[in-house]
Amino acid sequence: MEFDFPGVASNAVQADLLVVPCHEGDTPLKGYAFADAVSKLFLKGDFTGKRGQAMILPSNGAVAATRICLLGMGKGEDESVRAFADTLCDVFRGSAIDTLKLKHVAVALEVELKHRGFKPELVGRAVADAAIFGSYFFRRLHTKDKHTKRQFAEKVSLVGAKNKELKAGVEKGATVAKYACLARDLVNEPSNFMKPRDLAAAAKKMADETPGLKCKIIEKPEIEKLKMGSFLGVNAGSDDPARLIVLEYNGGKKGDAPVAFVGKGLCFDTGGYNIKANSLGMKGDMGGGAATIAALGACAALKLPVNVVGVVPATENEISGKAYHPGDILISMSGQTIEVDNTDAEGRLILCDALTYVQRTYKPAVIADMATLTGAAVVAVGNRYVAVMGNDQSTVKKMLASFETVGENAWQLPLPDCYDKLLDSPICDMKNIGGNPGTITAGLFLQRFIDKGQKWLHLDVAGSALYDGENWGLWNSKTPTGSPCRAIVQFAEDWHAANKGKGKK
Ligand code: BES
Ligand code: MN
Ligand code: ZN
Repeated sequence: MEFDFPGVASNAVQADLLVVPCHEGDTPLKGYAFADAVSKLFLKGDFTGKRGQAMILPSNGAVAATRICLLGMGKGEDESVRAFADTLCDVFRGSAIDTLKLKHVAVALEVELKHRGFKPELVGRAVADAAIFGSYFFRRLHTKDKHTKRQFAEKVSLVGAKNKELKAGVEKGATVAKYACLARDLVNEPSNFMKPRDLAAAAKKMADETPGLKCKIIEKPEIEKLKMGSFLGVNAGSDDPARLIVLEYNGGKKGDAPVAFVGKGLCFDTGGYNIKANSLGMKGDMGGGAATIAALGACAALKLPVNVVGVVPATENEISGKAYHPGDILISMSGQTIEVDNTDAEGRLILCDALTYVQRTYKPAVIADMATLTGAAVVAVGNRYVAVMGNDQSTVKKMLASFETVGENAWQLPLPDCYDKLLDSPICDMKNIGGNPGTITAGLFLQRFIDKGQKWLHLDVAGSALYDGENWGLWNSKTPTGSPCRAIVQFAEDWHAANKGKGKK
């Protein structure tokens, strides 16, 4: 996808389609120099500017572009930059792009920038997000023409406005969206093509192509030396050896404590001996890991002035003569012992060792882990929200604000002490399940592996990463979303902005 800023008024741009955002009212085209000429192309009343209404008309010379798309932005509460991005996204994924073979789309911005005083940088990001997510399609495994030849927009011109912030917004938005699409691709790949070694290779390839990004793959013999008994317990049943993927980007001051991301890289979750009745969709159990990998790529590509580390434990959870059993006791890297009451609660077992590893190796300023951890999260917050937990309220608030900035939803859940004791085991330090509320007891389990004073966040993305709804805002129907990649890249940037000048930590 190419973006350009030809520096002309909207009526002068040569394109296959000029998208004209219109706000609801008697004169939805108010504010555009070409309002009179374009109003003649349709019957008054046919287009009101109601949010989501989209009307494609031949321009008949009213503007230089071949066609016009009047796009309803609604009024009042409906009008926000986020709504603008969401609504515009529908144009890019709409069938007209393919059937009319529209390659070059221009977006008229004279009204958007003035109407509500939307910040140019955010408008730029919105256009980039809408164009890139609206054109997202996992094409690799299609062979039929209607898919392999499906037309998407190739070039987007931003017209009717030109300024530095708008351009910077497009550049940032496009970079982050591109990496979020990498996360989508990794999750879309089926488990027969996305083994732990493939996930590791994808991270390595990305790092090789991105200046400033380092990738280290820790292989199973070394994982054994590190005594990651919990992670290895989950891996035991799989023919594919576990890998710990470590990505480092040092854009900040030398020696500054990094922001650490830890993502669940469960390449397939059968449930183990507590077998799932239906494991369809469980190729996506590495969604948190994919978002972590992609976020590191985005931080490096954006050259953020911050140190960031990403750690992804990668394995499958399988059944075989070597697999772990219910009742087994695993000795984690932290030394704490864990009774496996349920082999299907494996995500926390691989994350706890990764959390110990990242604390010992990097002494991070803050850690955010992300995982498709519990089906209960889908019950608690649905698939349009991320469940956010943490041990420090001001850090939780920062994360919620970063979600807000990128237009993604997050909902905080508490980590109350009263539920922590549900994890106690009569036979060792703890059990790996604590019953209801399942998302919270999973968070409390992870919290037992966080050192005193270590700021830590836990993001359960079981719903949001594996979205299976209809097209919704920037999220495409029944396609992994890349969530929470965009929010955590924003978090790394915001973390730096809030802490710069404060020295170490
Ligand atoms: N990967 C699953 C959670 C999941 C379920 C993610 C559905 C996305 C959609 C996780 O490993 C799991 O199996 N969790 C169990 C925990 C239970 C055994 C305490 C669950 O949610 O049922
Ligand atoms: Mn499971
Ligand atoms: Zn799982």
